[in-house]
Amino acid sequence: MQNIFITVFLVCLTSCIGFSSQNSKNVDHSLVPSPRYRLPTTLFPTYYELNLFVVLDPLPNFQRFTATGEVLINVTCREPTNQIYLHAVNLTISQDSVRVNSRTDGSELGVISLTYELENDFFIITLNRTLQSDEFYGIYIKFVAPIPDYRLNGMYQDYYEDPESSETRYLATTLFAPYHARRLFPNFDEPSLRAEYSVAIGHHTKYHAMANEEIVATQSAGEDLPDYVWDYFRTTPSISSYITAMIISDFTYEEAEPVNFINRTSRVYASPHLISKGAGAYAANITDAVMGFFEDRFLIKFPLNKLYSIALPHFFFSAMENIGLITYKEPVLLYLKNETTEEERYKINYVMSHELAHQWFGNIVACKWWAYVWLKEGFATFYSHYGIEHTNPELNP
Ligand SMILES: *[C@@H]1O[C@H](CO)[C@@H](O)[C@H](O)[C@H]1NC(C)=O
Ligand SMILES: *[C@@H]1O[C@H](CO)[C@@H](O)[C@H](O)[C@H]1NC(C)=O
Ligand SMILES: *[C@@H]1O[C@H](CO)[C@@H](O)[C@H](O)[C@H]1NC(C)=O
Ligand SMILES: *[C@@H]1O[C@H](CO)[C@@H](O)[C@H](O)[C@H]1NC(C)=O
Ligand SMILES: *[C@@H]1O[C@H](CO)[C@@H](O)[C@H](O)[C@H]1NC(C)=O
Ligand SMILES: *[C@@H]1O[C@H](CO)[C@@H](O)[C@H](O)[C@H]1NC(C)=O
Repeated sequence: MQNIFITVFLVCLTSCIGFSSQNSKNVDHSLVPSPRYRLPTTLFPTYYELNLFVVLDPLPNFQRFTATGEVLINVTCREPTNQIYLHAVNLTISQDSVRVNSRTDGSELGVISLTYELENDFFIITLNRTLQSDEFYGIYIKFVAPIPDYRLNGMYQDYYEDPESSETRYLATTLFAPYHARRLFPNFDEPSLRAEYSVAIGHHTKYHAMANEEIVATQSAGEDLPDYVWDYFRTTPSISSYITAMIISDFTYEEAEPVNFINRTSRVYASPHLISKGAGAYAANITDAVMGFFEDRFLIKFPLNKLYSIALPHFFFSAMENIGLITYKEPVLLYLKNETTEEERYKINYVMSHELAHQWFGNIVACKWWAYVWLKEGFATFYSHYGIEHTNPELNP
């Protein structure tokens, strides 16, 4: 994540927590949120299968600007319990769609009640049978999530104006950090509860879909929905929910020659009128150069085959490091010869290098809890200067 005010504030706040607890003999946990805001330690997710049908245009039987979804979550039980606690905010969950079964013998557990604890964003499924330690279960839920125009987190609407036609073009994009994935789908929304994600996105053919991983198959959405297709994405490695991301847009892209980031695809996506002016090439080249350099330096290969950077017209942070699908504000990603100033070129290099360092510090290695967010931010800032030094040493202060 990169936002001057927010980051400084968080770093100060969280390191203060760290210092005060180290300095006092009787460790004071009063600044750490009460355990009642944390998920119980009974169940751990391992795998999500998430299907989202995203409607950005008028379509019979669907509400415009919604994502109609279903999620299957595979969990391991660590302590016996008859309640499943998940995070969910403002999702319409169909009561009778909720199913829980044992993956050992396939038997179905009875759902006694579904309740919400609004203060903690909890969605609680109470079962007629106790889940047993070291057993595996599947949780299946159908839901509808709004894609609103009044906030910049969860999945939300963004738009740009096409200069030729003066038309407003819509897109749907996500910002989940630090705890907004729960606004798109029910999940275990804490950074240490990592799992694999197998995502499918249904969308109108005038858009294309992007997620953390690459598309492995595309299928028509059936005769009833002739203009719609489903894109199926490769399953991710085990990652935190806040770095998952999905974007449905008509953006075009610039791709770098894979010179340093061997055999991987580095692309920059933006509104078509900006890409056609050549605004994406500079950042695509930086991605290739810095990712190759960091792989050599950290001796850990980036686990995905592609890394896309997206320039969004409206965004809350300067950038967000979602694995494989980094989102930016337009001015901190797009470079135009004779228009971009040296100060802006520095900002592009600095923010990009920071987000690319996060692919290791934060994404491959995650913080156990938000109180340690200064670690990932600190390392990303530290190594951003190595990235700049490698690609554009004249910019390093
Ligand atoms: C829930 O979503 C609806 C529809 O977008 C919106 O009107 C409402 O304000 C949202 N409520 C909350 C608590 O976010
Ligand atoms: C729990 O519910 C399931 C599914 O409805 C049912 O088959 C099972 O008999 C119930 N078990 C108990 C102990 O009530
Ligand atoms: C998840 O659970 C379902 C059954 O509930 C099973 O068919 C599937 O193989 C599991 N997937 C993974 C990756 O564990
Ligand atoms: C890149 O891909 C080619 C062709 O698949 C393969 O021969 C080569 O070993 C790969 N290089 C690296 C560094 O992975
Ligand atoms: C990007 O790199 C290519 C060589 O791979 C070079 O030809 C091109 O000029 C570079 N573009 C920019 C904008 O730096
Ligand atoms: C940038 O400005 C120089 C000098 O005025 C000019 O020769 C060049 O064509 C311009 N380049 C672009 C991409 O506009």
